[in-house]
Amino acid sequence: METILITVAVITVIAAILALLLSLADKYIADYGDVELTINANEPLTVSAGNSLLSTLRDEKIFIPSACGGKGTCGYCKVKVLEGGGPILATEKSLVTAEEAANGVRLSCQLKVKNNIHIEIPEELFNVREFEAEVIGDDHVTKTIKRMRFKLPADLDFNFKPGQYVQLKAPPYEGSDEEVYRAYSIASSAGDHGHLELLIGYTGGIATTYVHQHLKQGDTVDINGPYGDFYYQDGDSDILLVAAGTGMAPIISILHHMRDNNIQRKARFFFGAKTPDDLFMTDELKQFEKDLYDFKYLPTLSRVTDDMAWDGDRGRVNVSIEKYVEDGGNYTAYLCGSPQMIDSIVESLHQKHIPDEAIFFDKF
Ligand code: FES
Repeated sequence: METILITVAVITVIAAILALLLSLADKYIADYGDVELTINANEPLTVSAGNSLLSTLRDEKIFIPSACGGKGTCGYCKVKVLEGGGPILATEKSLVTAEEAANGVRLSCQLKVKNNIHIEIPEELFNVREFEAEVIGDDHVTKTIKRMRFKLPADLDFNFKPGQYVQLKAPPYEGSDEEVYRAYSIASSAGDHGHLELLIGYTGGIATTYVHQHLKQGDTVDINGPYGDFYYQDGDSDILLVAAGTGMAPIISILHHMRDNNIQRKARFFFGAKTPDDLFMTDELKQFEKDLYDFKYLPTLSRVTDDMAWDGDRGRVNVSIEKYVEDGGNYTAYLCGSPQMIDSIVESLHQKHIPDEAIFFDKF
C-alpha cells in the first residue's frame, strides 16, 4: 500500500513539474515573433504571435463574444478564417459543424496565432466598446433576480440596438480564482446614453454569484458590447413579445424604444412565470400599457394554486398564444427564454401560420 502511495505521489510531482516547465517554455522560450493580422479588407496589423486569436483581437481592442471566457465551451467566439488558421483542432470540433469548418469558421479562443492570418468578422464588432461602469442600483426584483443599474463613463460613445446584449466581467473573488465574461441582455433604453440596466438571475455560477454576493453600489465593473443579431426590426406588422425570467430584459428595452420613438404598432407581451412571486416590473409594464399606442402585458402563471391571489391567465405561454393570437395575422415575434421554451413557442406560432422569417429569438 505504502509503495502504491509513494508511486502515485512521485508521478503527480513529475506531472506537475512537466506542466510547469511547459508553461514556462511557452512563456519565455517560444517566441513566435511578429505576424500580420488582416481583418476583412483592412490594412494588416502587426501583432505578436503565440496567443489565441481571441486574445490577440482583444489586445487590438476588437472584442468577439466569448461567454465561456475562452474555455472552448460556449461557441460564441466563432470567426471566419480565410488564410493562416491551420487545421481545425480537436477542441473546436464539438462546436464547429462540418459545414462551418468547410467555410473556414473557427473558435477564436482555441486557434493560436502563429503566422500571418486573414480573418473576416462582421463590421459591427468594430463598434464594440469595453468600459468600466459604476454600479448605482442593485435591487432585487424577485428572490433570485437583481436589476443592476450602471452609470456609464461620461465620454463613452456606446450605441446599441434594443434587444442586444453586453458581456460583464466577473473578476476573481473569494471562492473563485477565475476571470469570466458572461452575456446579459440590456434592459434599458437605447436612447439613454448615460446608463445601462441588466436583469441578472442567480444561478450559482461564477458570474451570477459575483453579481449577487459581491458586487455592490459604488463598485465598478468591466463591461463590453454590444453584441447580438436579436433586436427590434422596423416595419408595420403587429408585434408579439414572449419571455420568461430574465428574458424580460430585451423586451423592456424594445418597449423603451417604441415609447421613445412613438412607434404606433400593436404589441402584445406574453410573460410566462410559475407563481405571482415570479412576476416583476409590473408597474413599469402597466405604465407602458398607458404610454404606448396599443400595448398589452399578458402574464400567465403555470403553477398557481387556489390559495394564491391571482385572477389572470393560467398555464404555459402556449395557452395564451392559442387564446389571444389570431391565425394567419401579420406578426413579427420576439422570443427570449430557455431553448425548450422557445422551441415550443415557435411550434405554437407555426400553428398560427406565422413564418420563420417573422420569428426572432434569443435562447438563454
Ligand atoms: S469563448 Fe467560448 S468557445 Fe470560445
